[in-house]
Amino acid sequence: MRKIAVVNMKGGVGKTTTAVHVAAGLAARGRTVLLIDADPQGNIGHGFRIRHTHTLEDLLLGAAPTEAVIVRSVRERVDMIASTPAAFSLERRLAGETQRETILARRLRSLTGYDAAVIDCSPAMNLLTYNALLYAEEIIVPVAMDLMAIIGARQTLNGVAEVRDLWPDRRLDLLAVLPTFTSATNNATKSALEALEHDPQMGPYLFSPGIRQCIDLNYATSQRQTIWEYAPRSRAAEDYTRFLDFVDRQEEADAHAVKEEAKTAI
Ligand SMILES: Nc1ncnc2c1ncn2[C@@H]1O[C@H](COP(=O)(O)OP(=O)(O)OP(=O)(O)O)[C@@H](O)[C@H]1O
Ligand SMILES: [Mg+2]
Repeated sequence: MRKIAVVNMKGGVGKTTTAVHVAAGLAARGRTVLLIDADPQGNIGHGFRIRHTHTLEDLLLGAAPTEAVIVRSVRERVDMIASTPAAFSLERRLAGETQRETILARRLRSLTGYDAAVIDCSPAMNLLTYNALLYAEEIIVPVAMDLMAIIGARQTLNGVAEVRDLWPDRRLDLLAVLPTFTSATNNATKSALEALEHDPQMGPYLFSPGIRQCIDLNYATSQRQTIWEYAPRSRAAEDYTRFLDFVDRQEEADAHAVKEEAKTAI
C-alpha cells in the first residue's frame, strides 16, 4: 500500500487540489484509495459535501475505531477520513500522550484493503503534519511560483530531514516537487523554476513544468468536481493527467527496483 502525503508549510500553494486529484486520479486508474484530511480547515470534507459522525480527531484521541471514522465511497473507489476545526485543539489535548507524533501511524497500522492513502496537510509543521509524515512513505511538495512558497518548501524539507534523523528506520521519500500556478509568459514563474532547478535538495525531484495556472481549477472546486469532470479539456486537466501518469509509473519503478534488489540478494 502506498502512503503519500502532500505538504508545504506555505498556504495556498495547491496542496488540497493536488491531494484530491492524486486520490481521484489513482482511483480512475483502478486503485482503491483512502483520502485523509489532516488539515483542520476541513477543505476536503466541504469539497465532497460529506456527512460524518467521526473525524480524524476522534481517531487520534482514541475516541473511535478506524472503521468508524472512515467515510465510505465518497467517490468510486475513494473512501475518506475527514477533519473539522475541532482538530485545531489536538496539539493541546494530546500533550500528555507519549510518542504523540506516531499516533496516526499506530492507529492505521493494521489498515488493509487500500492500494493507496493520500494525506492532505495543513500549511504548518504542527503535530498533525508530523503525524502525517510519520505515517506516509512518500511526499509531494507543491510549490507556487513565488519566493515565499519556495522558502516554505525548504522549511518543509528541513522538517522532513528532522523526521528522518529522529526515525532513521522509517521510509520517507520525496516523490515530487510540483510547481503550481505556473505561467509560461510570467517572469516570476521563470525565476522560481530556475531557483527550484538549482536547489540541490529539490532540483532532482522537480516535476517540470508542473501544473499551469488555470481558473477552471477554482470553478471545479466550487462545483465540488475534479478538473477531469468539470473541464476535461483544460490545461489543468492535461497537467494533472501527466502528473498522475508519473505518480502511477513511480510505483511500477519502485516495484521493479524491489524485484531487482531481491534478485541480487539471492
Ligand atoms: N494551478 C492552479 N491554477 C489556478 N488556481 C489553482 C491552481 N491550483 C489550485 N488553485 C486554486 O487555488 C486555491 C488554493 O488551492 P488549495 O486549496 O489547493 O491550496 P492549499 O495549499 O491546500 O491551501 P491551504 O494551505 O490553505 O490548505 C483554490 O481555490 C484552488 O482551486
Ligand atoms: Mg489545503
